[in-house]
Amino acid sequence: KIIVLDFGSQYNQLITRRLRDFGIYSELLSHDLSAEKIKEINPKGIIFSGGPNSVYDQDAMRIDSDIFKLGIPVLGICYGMQLISHVFGGKVERAENSEYGRADISVADATEGLFAGLPVKQTVWMSHGDLVTQVPAGFTTIASSVNCPIAAIANAEKNIYGIQFHAEVRNSEYGLDILKNFAFNICHAEANWTMDDFIGMEIEDIRQTVGNKKVILGLSGGVDSSVTATLLHRAIGDQLTAIFVDHGMLRKNEAEQVMAALNKELGINIIKVDAADRFLSKLAGVTEPERKRKIIGKEFIEVFNEEAQKLKDIDFLAQGTLYTDVIESGTNTAKTIKSHHNVGGLPKDMHFSLIEPLRKLFKDEVRVLGEKLGLPHDLVWRQPFPGPGLGIRVIGEITAEKLAIVRESDAILREEIKNAGLQEDIWQYFTVLPGIRSVGVMGDGRTYDYTIGIRAVTSIDGMTADFAHIPWEVLQKISTRIVNDVDHINRVVYDITSKPPATIEWE
Ligand code: XMP
Repeated sequence: KIIVLDFGSQYNQLITRRLRDFGIYSELLSHDLSAEKIKEINPKGIIFSGGPNSVYDQDAMRIDSDIFKLGIPVLGICYGMQLISHVFGGKVERAENSEYGRADISVADATEGLFAGLPVKQTVWMSHGDLVTQVPAGFTTIASSVNCPIAAIANAEKNIYGIQFHAEVRNSEYGLDILKNFAFNICHAEANWTMDDFIGMEIEDIRQTVGNKKVILGLSGGVDSSVTATLLHRAIGDQLTAIFVDHGMLRKNEAEQVMAALNKELGINIIKVDAADRFLSKLAGVTEPERKRKIIGKEFIEVFNEEAQKLKDIDFLAQGTLYTDVIESGTNTAKTIKSHHNVGGLPKDMHFSLIEPLRKLFKDEVRVLGEKLGLPHDLVWRQPFPGPGLGIRVIGEITAEKLAIVRESDAILREEIKNAGLQEDIWQYFTVLPGIRSVGVMGDGRTYDYTIGIRAVTSIDGMTADFAHIPWEVLQKISTRIVNDVDHINRVVYDITSKPPATIEWE
């Protein structure tokens, strides 16, 4: 295994994932892990992630320098490289111009080491404010660019390497090869970890835990709960019952697709509850976003509870908690901007033991797992969808008519994004109904009707986001179709705000 020490880069999850893609087990661990502890873990290699700090910051994240005495190969990425330089007496300075984006590097030696077998000129992805201006003793510069003369360093004897650019992101042309060189040639790690191993181990584990008892699961139609249900079904078959609450705020055809894939195709026991009316009546007259969320969350739990009580002898509750959820719930210092309680989450007063078979995985891996387990591609790769669903995309009071407008316009948007082949480049895309009306002219008549907002963002993790640069022609087509095909819409606008200062959803 190769461990990644976390210095706070938004890409750090990506590094562990890349390694697992190579078939090497990898975990993200805290940067303050002691050398002693690392010796116990006994990894084949250590990667220092990037991070937002400068090595000269008062509260900069440091490292136990004894780590370098363990004889384990180290690769520092971005901040990681600066930290290595700092520890070994090199010089790190603020760059005159911060560098974000593409850069062309020249490699000093492409016969061995990090760049073995790769082109001498290659494009990489830079994102930094500081840079190394003097190589520490014992190290040499192994790559440089115009703005960053010391773009990569090596101490081949000690097996310590640093790269200023982000090899883990796709924009670095040979980034994956560089990581492979480190993992296989320098660390001599073996590719012996596969998703099939994971499935086998988890199924065995679930069978051991559950025995002949029964399990329930709240199915939301999202990727995580669907994959959890499928994995459990593989392990324990009909001992699993999933409860799928349709709150009437799902996307067009979503409930049918979930039932078709999981119930009809895979044979999972699913109790589908059509609770749309019940939710709508509870939400009547409510306009405040947080109250809407609370009502939807509470109602969901009530419906779930009622159904669970009808079943007898249930011992376990399964949940699709991911690794990132585990991390996030540990650092609950952030201010509540929105209560992102996942509908489908754990009813706190229920007396079940928990099973969380996905808690070691990242989202992308859950998707690979889902495909391996036979879930349809579209379901597995669907964009994030909030628990309260379309309910928070109808701004203000939710009515059946407004939900229909959002549902139809959203379906058109999704179809056109897919036709344009953009669905995997955009993190999330949806329509919102702000509830304002404006004057238009259709045919020869005056209209006074609703506006639809299109929201489409690129993001790594949903924490920050930029509006997606969708080509005008595609937007034009979407706009025309929405105005023509959706009743009560005479205007379409495109949201061009990033997060921050806006959020992704409008409520
Ligand atoms: P914001 O709007 O806060 O959204 O920028 C960040 C991500 O979280 C999703 N989101 C939610 N997910 N329940 C959820 O399960 C919620 O109440 C909720 N509100 C926002 C949002 O879709 C985006 O992916």
